[in-house]
Amino acid sequence: MKINVIKTQTPKAKPDPNSLGFGKYFTDHMFVMDYVKGQGWINPQIIPYQPLPMDPACMVFHYAQEIFEGLKAYKTADGGIQLFRPFDNIRRMNESADRLCIPALDVDFAVEAIKELVAVDSDWIPTQPGTSLYIRPFIIATDNALGVHASATYKFIVILSPVGSYYKEGLNPVKIFVESEYVRAVKGGTGFTKCGGNYAGSLKAQEITEKSGYSQVLWLDGVEKKYIEEVGSMNVFFKIDGEVITPMLNGSILGGITRKSCIELLKSWGMKVSERRISIEEVYDAYQNGKLEEVFGTGTAAVISPVGTLGWKDHVMTINNGEIGEVSQKLYDAITGIQTGKIADPFNWTVKVK
Ligand code: COI
Repeated sequence: MKINVIKTQTPKAKPDPNSLGFGKYFTDHMFVMDYVKGQGWINPQIIPYQPLPMDPACMVFHYAQEIFEGLKAYKTADGGIQLFRPFDNIRRMNESADRLCIPALDVDFAVEAIKELVAVDSDWIPTQPGTSLYIRPFIIATDNALGVHASATYKFIVILSPVGSYYKEGLNPVKIFVESEYVRAVKGGTGFTKCGGNYAGSLKAQEITEKSGYSQVLWLDGVEKKYIEEVGSMNVFFKIDGEVITPMLNGSILGGITRKSCIELLKSWGMKVSERRISIEEVYDAYQNGKLEEVFGTGTAAVISPVGTLGWKDHVMTINNGEIGEVSQKLYDAITGIQTGKIADPFNWTVKVK
């Protein structure tokens, strides 16, 4: 399928690359493609960034049939542009799509579309350390109807945002609070997908924790409220007595691409890394015994985010004196080094745009 490209006649001013924050600015163009039942995905276009005309009865407004992804583009020192594991993002999007009764994308075509859009807006890719061009693909149901059923029409849209770090703390350790009342997901639900509803349901706990001075919540399993699942916008890792542990994927945890990359890197360094159930009691016991060496989150937006303080009930655990740990720093350097082409990519994770 050929992508029709219509360029803007009124390019926007670029933001100050030193104060990008996360997801506040959007580039000059967007990719849009329609789905019509019986015809499949049709009419792929790159057009000037613009609002969407939507009917108030549009199904996505009412029943949240919506999924999204997040990945990043980087400029390399030789002027090239590369993406990090984009095929994995679209494959994961198709897993989310299946759960939400949304039609699948052709993985190769979707990656091509992203490459072409990034190439059109390549002037927007920031190059300051810690910055990148965040790519947000998403699919929304577009039938105008109030009956609860899967839509027969959809839009796949990709927008781009030059970003700095996700947390205002940057690579400095963040404060995370263990959520004991609300839950994010249960097995059989949508926890493993990237659907907007998962995030809408997390806002209440997030608001409460922010009021107490924490950045995000750490979710426990939805049944026993005992086993660790993930943090608001990241997967989570613990280093206990030399072993790096992350909760295993159990249907209610997002299969993060940075999570998977960290596991592969740690294994390649010969470190002991386990994907298994880990309870909050195990973490607290390790802390009391002086064996909780590091805690960090991983995600596309957050990259590697060390956790300096972990609050649970009345306990406040200060991890590694509130400083970034050795493994967190090593993973951050390796992941961002590969992403920006500063170090070799032995795993072939990066994909050239040009
Ligand atoms: C990402 O890391 O790309 C995410 O999608 C997290 C987010 C909700 C900001």
